[in-house]
Amino acid sequence: MLGKTEIYEAAHSFITRAYSELNKTPEETRSRINDILSEIQQTGTYTHTFEELEHGAKMAWRNSNRCIGRLFWDKLRITDARQSESPLEVASLLIQHIEKATNGGRIIPSITVFRPETAISESIRIWNHQLIRYAGYETTDGIVGDPDSIAFTNMCNKMGWTGEGTDFDILPLVIQQGNQEPEWFNIPRHAVIEVHLEHPEIPSFSSLGLKWYAVPIISDMALEIGGITYQAAPFNGWYMGTEIGARNLADSFRYNKLPLIAELMGLDTHSETTLWRDRALVELNIAVLHSYKKAGVSIVDHHTAAMQFRSFEEREARSDREITGDWTWLIPPVSPATTHIFHKSYNDEVRSPLFQYMERLY
Ligand code: ARG
Repeated sequence: MLGKTEIYEAAHSFITRAYSELNKTPEETRSRINDILSEIQQTGTYTHTFEELEHGAKMAWRNSNRCIGRLFWDKLRITDARQSESPLEVASLLIQHIEKATNGGRIIPSITVFRPETAISESIRIWNHQLIRYAGYETTDGIVGDPDSIAFTNMCNKMGWTGEGTDFDILPLVIQQGNQEPEWFNIPRHAVIEVHLEHPEIPSFSSLGLKWYAVPIISDMALEIGGITYQAAPFNGWYMGTEIGARNLADSFRYNKLPLIAELMGLDTHSETTLWRDRALVELNIAVLHSYKKAGVSIVDHHTAAMQFRSFEEREARSDREITGDWTWLIPPVSPATTHIFHKSYNDEVRSPLFQYMERLY
């Protein structure tokens, strides 16, 4: 937690920036800054108005150097959950987040903001990496499920949760209030849309039994706005196909499905020069995009996403804002050089408000 001076300085710079973007008058800005100063002097912290929280969260998305989807930063939907107290209440709002953001497949970029840890309130922490995520188990015949979830799954097991032991068990929500023991809550099945993967030209593809969930909702990053850190502020957009098709299901240290797909396609996997990995990768990515579209679940391919990112760059330039970015994350993992992003460089400076990583709790 910051001292009074640091909070005030951060608040001052945030309010100045945000209020100018929101077309407030200099008087409104000055008077709000004065109110914040006296609130900080009295309580050691201050409380954002809904408008400040909303615009701050949007600015944090706009400042997300690794995100290619930022064209839509201004469309973020905010739920103010700062009133919720208990883990049970938090869990029910998280389930509402899942349902409202999923929106039957027409995904709405959304964030739910819980109360920050301050001089006057206890922290709320969500232990999950994403609200919806598949469990991973180390068994005697190898890993089942998502290898990336093994540590978290072990922790859930220790808390008394058990999964069915499939490759796609949905993990429970794990919520901690202050220094109390974390509590877990199952997500109702009907709240979660999943998409079974099929390929438009390879009928046997669906026999692989692959699927993925509709909405990625990151829940282990803190939202920092004007010196206030919201440690529980899960947010989502929709998937870019490659996240699933070139990483989650393809990485050798994740679901590692390329060899299986190559086999199904009858490719020669004995020599790298047949480019069987690349061919399998492209077909898997076609299957992802095709299946999400067919299921009516929002998704974007990496070419369209790159074009949207170009519009974002142009729009920001017109607003006289310099954009920041992390090239290593912005380029898509499939055919990066076919996008304009590959051929330029970005300033990876960190600006506030922002989403930041927190130390892991397990
Ligand atoms: N890459 C992460 C995943 O595959 C999700 C990160 C956020 N992605 C997004 N499109 N908003 O689950």
